[in-house]
Amino acid sequence: MEKIQFNHEVSISRIVQGFWRLHQWNLDAKQLVDFMHQCVDLGVTSFDTAEVYGNYNSEALLGEALSLDPSLRSKIEIITKTGINKPHPDRPYRNKYFDTTYDKIIQSCNESLQKLNTLYIDVYLIHREDPLIDHAEVARAFNDLKQMGKIKAYGVSNFDPFKFEALHEHTSKQLVTNQIEISPLQFEHFNSGMLDLLQKHRIHPMIWSPLAGGAIFNSDTHEACSLRKVLKPMADKYQCEVDTLVYAWLLHHPVKAAVISGSQKIERLQNCVNALQINLEREDWFEIYLASGQQVLR
Ligand SMILES: NC(=O)c1ccc[n+]([C@@H]2O[C@H](COP(=O)([O-])OP(=O)(O)OC[C@H]3O[C@@H](n4cnc5c(N)ncnc54)[C@H](OP(=O)(O)O)[C@@H]3O)[C@@H](O)[C@H]2O)c1
Repeated sequence: MEKIQFNHEVSISRIVQGFWRLHQWNLDAKQLVDFMHQCVDLGVTSFDTAEVYGNYNSEALLGEALSLDPSLRSKIEIITKTGINKPHPDRPYRNKYFDTTYDKIIQSCNESLQKLNTLYIDVYLIHREDPLIDHAEVARAFNDLKQMGKIKAYGVSNFDPFKFEALHEHTSKQLVTNQIEISPLQFEHFNSGMLDLLQKHRIHPMIWSPLAGGAIFNSDTHEACSLRKVLKPMADKYQCEVDTLVYAWLLHHPVKAAVISGSQKIERLQNCVNALQINLEREDWFEIYLASGQQVLR
């Protein structure tokens, strides 16, 4: 499996397994251990989660698996995120809001380490843009956590180019990624210039909801129907599954992104891994880019 080097301490697998939906899969710890081993056997060693996933419980599910099979920890990389506060019986928040203050980041990281049953987090991300972000404060928290050995690398998620650049400056250009949504139904980061900024800094994004959360297959919108009309015959041409073609489209971009698969089915993760072997023709890439009707060429 191809790796993406984030810094001198961390590289992640180009294909990542996401655990946003883990709480819906009804796996016990043993079944989760088996699933994680199957991922590792495919070369997918990097696992994405967040403090807030599964109503603050997903990290703990992963932690139970890691405590059942401690041999897993040295074979994998854990990516997790902080900064979202949501109402929960055990938490004092009245509403959803974002908190990227120094104390919150430090406390949240300590809690994640405990729940994940690990001594370190490989990649630690600010989950969402916080309109009240103090870049110097976030940079200090990240830097202190790294000095303490609690995180090995850090970055952000869902940042626009201006906010990314501002924090990147304050961290002495130590941000290693921006985890962003891209799919043939979601073009925000093409249009914002985010992909160009990341290329300028030689930073590789991580792509979430690469299949638009399944909408590529099951949405009845005009955009999704138009897209499917292009994807199905093209998948036949490349002799691959439709999802493999979509992953190949994402991997083709010179920004060299990692792709996070969100499926609970190992055969669908295999479809994602298979995309690394497909070389899309440039004209076909554009056909997919234009298929939903959301993008135009100027
Ligand atoms: N940073 C952020 O703000 C953020 C936000 C959202 C997600 N993420 C990360 O990105 C990961 C991936 O996101 P995602 O789960 O939305 O990714 P996705 O891969 O676009 O969507 C996964 C969903 O699509 C379904 N699916 C896959 N193939 C299908 C097919 N052939 N037909 C019908 N349905 C199909 C899956 O169902 P099955 O399980 O049944 O295959 C699953 O429900 C998450 O797990 C999380 O780690 C990050």
